[in-house]
Amino acid sequence: MVNRIGNINNQVNIKSDMAIKTFALNQSNNFSRELAFYKLCEAKDIKQVPHLLDYSNEKQEIIIKYIPGKKPQSLTNFFIGQVADFLSDLNEDDNLEYVPNAAEAILTNKCLASHLKNRLQQIGSKGKYHPKGLTGTVRETINILENKSIDLGAILINPSDLGLHNMILNNGNIIFYDFEYAGKDSYLKLLIDFCLHPINEIKFNNFELYNKTFAKALNIKPLKLSNAVIQAFCLWWVMRLINSMKEEIINSRVNRGLIDQNNISNYVEKRNKQKELFWNYARSF
Ligand SMILES: Nc1ncnc2c1ncn2[C@@H]1O[C@H](COP(=O)(O)OP(=O)(O)O)[C@@H](O)[C@H]1O
Ligand SMILES: [Mg+2]
Repeated sequence: MVNRIGNINNQVNIKSDMAIKTFALNQSNNFSRELAFYKLCEAKDIKQVPHLLDYSNEKQEIIIKYIPGKKPQSLTNFFIGQVADFLSDLNEDDNLEYVPNAAEAILTNKCLASHLKNRLQQIGSKGKYHPKGLTGTVRETINILENKSIDLGAILINPSDLGLHNMILNNGNIIFYDFEYAGKDSYLKLLIDFCLHPINEIKFNNFELYNKTFAKALNIKPLKLSNAVIQAFCLWWVMRLINSMKEEIINSRVNRGLIDQNNISNYVEKRNKQKELFWNYARSF
């Protein structure tokens, strides 16, 4: 039997002991990044990801070992330790020569401001879910960032999209998957994206704990986090969430069976609430 698990970008088919991930034609960057990441993990003998079994460039398909198990429901200290070990093993040697850049990587001081500009363009200046004053606040933040030096921490391998939604608990160990955004990136992006990802439910005042834990695992100094940078990441998330509530995005998710036609209002309500949370926090500084 073939089980289908779809997503906005691609399709995963489970066939006995394999998971076959096929990327849409317009997702060739995601395919290349994910394949490069799995090859890297094979070369480094990383135990915390499924084995790469095969791939096809023509079909934009990656075949990995099927991992039975459950999604972990919350981030216990034990799981956080496993995330830290994964990051540590992945970055044990710091040869980044053949590692492609992560999606929306933050590799220089200018990148964060430039991502905000792109997202602003993507969502436009008006829309049903735009909070009042969004464009002005984002522009102000871009201005501040452009005249500021940002602590990036270190440049490293970022698995990206790191969260409970991309982990399987298998025999007491966490196995990580879904690396289509992975690649060379900064510790700053890795840390803040992990802390802000809604699924991880990390409290805003708990970032320092993760900063300490991950920096120790990576053998680097904890980041000096500034309010301006955290505010920028929150605004980035506000814009990502607004984009995900666009009619065309929702329609395409409904067409692929990812959102139930009867569940659209729930989906939107949840995202809108999360957006409000980020918006309020961004303006609390
Ligand atoms: N190796 C695997 N073993 C078991 N399940 C998997 C495996 N790879 C993917 N899946 C299932 O398929 C879903 C989608 O895979 P993922 O790589 O996260 O794709 P997407 O980019 O669509 O989120 C996962 O949430 C998981 O349920
Ligand atoms: Mg996923």
